[in-house]
Amino acid sequence: MKTIITINELRAALSVFREAGKTIGLVPTMGALHEGHASLVRRSVAENDVTVVSIFLNPTQFNDKNDLERYPRTLEADCQLLDACHADIAFAPSVQEIYPEPDTRHFSYPPTDEVMEGARRPGHFNGVCQIVSKLFDYVQPDRAYFGEKDFQQIAVIRRMVDDLGLKLQIVPCPVVREESGLARSSRNSLLSPLEHRAAAHIYRVLQWSLPFAEDHSVAQTLQFVVDAINAHPELEVEYYSIVDGDTLADVNEWTDAPHIVGCITVYCGSKPIRLIDHIRYKG
Ligand code: PAF
Repeated sequence: MKTIITINELRAALSVFREAGKTIGLVPTMGALHEGHASLVRRSVAENDVTVVSIFLNPTQFNDKNDLERYPRTLEADCQLLDACHADIAFAPSVQEIYPEPDTRHFSYPPTDEVMEGARRPGHFNGVCQIVSKLFDYVQPDRAYFGEKDFQQIAVIRRMVDDLGLKLQIVPCPVVREESGLARSSRNSLLSPLEHRAAAHIYRVLQWSLPFAEDHSVAQTLQFVVDAINAHPELEVEYYSIVDGDTLADVNEWTDAPHIVGCITVYCGSKPIRLIDHIRYKG
């Protein structure tokens, strides 16, 4: 695997593959790679001739500077994992390389980027669109792979791809879970062993809510999930929304949309660590 740190070198390396008619897969990451990322990389390797993995802790998507500062940085281990997954190129640029000037572009895709994470983390999805659009421009991938754990992020990126008229295919990949059911996340490494066990309660409750929802309303199901998670002393729900899986607008009835998903954000422990997850009720 080749590690590249400049945009010019990346473009030059990829133009050789493109001229030879090779397909290119892109897996955008912020590093601190785990089995969830590895599953995206393996899928890209299986479906494309060349796989590029970007490792860039994008400052413009962090509205909370403490969150950015404590985000794990593990470049050496990341490159080892990518090598083992047979990625072809790791693109690990500096902040100066990506943002020599502040990025003043503004992306807006209501209601998708305004609800849930969008409402609690102002500017977050604008920052995601800034970096992902740049990566799409540098790499010009045929396919780009994103984990469904960040369910809302995929919906926003799809809107951006339509808006910019890009030809690439967005490939959503299933959440990879620990044995306990906890969704794999780079943030899990910040949890103490006690918090780690507590965090597993989130998905447990989401699963309990599936049979509950069969004979209860949307409002009752929302309350059931919030109460059952908040009953755990280490956990506090920031929001639980049951939404149309395509537009992400809130639903009031189970008949309101063909795809219905519950999206949750929970604070875990005393630091606290912010964890997200989701579950499909319909479609
Ligand atoms: O999902 C992430 O890790 C990031 O939001 C992404 C897509 C790599 C953009 O920085």
